[in-house]
Amino acid sequence: MSNKAIITSALPYANGEIHLGHVASTYLPADVTARFLKLKGVEAYYVCASDDFGTPILIQSEKEGKTPSEYVSYWNKRDYDDFTAFNINFDYFYKTSSTENIEFVQDVFKKLNDAGHIYEKEIIQFYCSNDKKFLPDRYVKGSCPYCKAEDQYSDLCESCGRVPEEISNPKCAICGQIPKKEKTTHYFFKLKNFGDSLSKWLEENKNLQKDVKKYVQNWIKSGLIDWDITRDITWGVPIPLDGAKGKVFYGWFDNHLAYISTALKFLNDKGIDGKEFWNSADIYHFIGKDIVYHHYLFLPAMRLGIDSEYKLPDYIPTRGHLTLQAKKISKSRNWYIGLREFLNYYPADYLRYYLVAINPYSQDDLNFDWDEFTNRINSELIGNLGNFVNRALGFTKKAYDGVIAESGDFDEKDKEALDQIKNLSSVIGELMQQNHLDRALKKIMEFSSFFNQYFQHKEPWKKGSGTENCVYLSVNAVRSLAIGVFPFIPESSQKIWEQLGFEGNVNDNHWNQISELGAKPGHRLGDVSPLFVKVEQADIEKYKKQLGPK
Ligand code: 2FM
Ligand code: ZN
Repeated sequence: MSNKAIITSALPYANGEIHLGHVASTYLPADVTARFLKLKGVEAYYVCASDDFGTPILIQSEKEGKTPSEYVSYWNKRDYDDFTAFNINFDYFYKTSSTENIEFVQDVFKKLNDAGHIYEKEIIQFYCSNDKKFLPDRYVKGSCPYCKAEDQYSDLCESCGRVPEEISNPKCAICGQIPKKEKTTHYFFKLKNFGDSLSKWLEENKNLQKDVKKYVQNWIKSGLIDWDITRDITWGVPIPLDGAKGKVFYGWFDNHLAYISTALKFLNDKGIDGKEFWNSADIYHFIGKDIVYHHYLFLPAMRLGIDSEYKLPDYIPTRGHLTLQAKKISKSRNWYIGLREFLNYYPADYLRYYLVAINPYSQDDLNFDWDEFTNRINSELIGNLGNFVNRALGFTKKAYDGVIAESGDFDEKDKEALDQIKNLSSVIGELMQQNHLDRALKKIMEFSSFFNQYFQHKEPWKKGSGTENCVYLSVNAVRSLAIGVFPFIPESSQKIWEQLGFEGNVNDNHWNQISELGAKPGHRLGDVSPLFVKVEQADIEKYKKQLGPK
């Protein structure tokens, strides 16, 4: 593990609001990891950007009568504001349409071209005579030539995850007519050249998820196809060649390069040598499973093509899709919950807790269920964690005027409790490092549950011998929890810290301080009040009814 890290998450298209599906698989796990690494003392930066180019954005801005640039700047700000309200703490949020990214992309292209990885070819492209347009990507719908799934866009089959060479039974997505084929000159990236080097990279990188690796290796074995990186549209990074007037890069050629160009811009502006930092840091790209092809093939091949001038990712944490009430999320069927809307109902920490708790480090899909959300918040976050914190601090306030008394000799139960505190930072830390955020959170809740039982067992309200030990260890367990939950539920973590009577920010601590007894005898607590408010079933019934066709 390096003492530097750059964390990115799949860049959100500047094309609509962020919903629960987006945050569950990428932004939240990345944010939790970034917060954890920073607590570990790693110089970690979480950078992201809006993904501004591409045909769907052009189509939508045309529909709304806006210039594409007006359209994307609206969504760039809106997305950033929503992420911020959810406490997704980017160190920097930029855009793929930035001058820095455009120049960076053109430079990478020139290097790939000079190294012989690009060629020009006349191709036949779908053309709609009705709309008088070439029809790349989402301008064409049809069936997938590999798995035969119907109603797929020509740039990605959502059913088998592959990028079709040519979609079958094509139709113009604007007017529905069958398009003609016309000649146009396109630039291709020789992905075929990279089969061996990609296999080697996959083989050597032990941090990548095994199951994902396996099917990427199968794709490579079944033969890679060269990649058309050109689009005959007006909105994109211009191709920097004389013969390429009016042509731009395909969005997937430029967007992942914004991971690098955004990090460089941020680091260089801070006075850090961005390139040197990138190459000595652990690189994390958090993604959802729908874009495995792009991140395990296109992205590394392009970096290999420029002689790994910027190192390849160390981690590509890939997670499944969120379903909602066991049904696929769909904006057009109103089967989704906007992030902003959710945050009008409940604090960010409720959603953060629930979405981490149900989200394994795998490609399995996960399901948001309103009833399960209610149960888990009420019984785990409130019934377990909130209850213990309030009980331990509330009792100390009442019985000792909020001051930790001197403790005496520890009995067996106290020693067990002390061990729990001593081991906590390494137990959760290891799981976090392995990306098992859900398991780490579960361990924290087990720790809290242990202390609820310890407190119950000790019956400090009877004021017997050993009461001071119970108070001392319980308040210290609350302190460990305050630091340990910071990556997951940062607002509550800070509240606990303040109720403990400590000053400053909870994240000024080092992760290892979780396992110290930092609340000393004589320390005085702050004001104590319940951390959370129960989720009411009646409200949940209302929210359920808001889903589906209006
Ligand atoms: O699938 C998407 O939502 C894309 N906007 C992700 C882009 S990630 C890239 F930049 F690598
Ligand atoms: Zn048409």
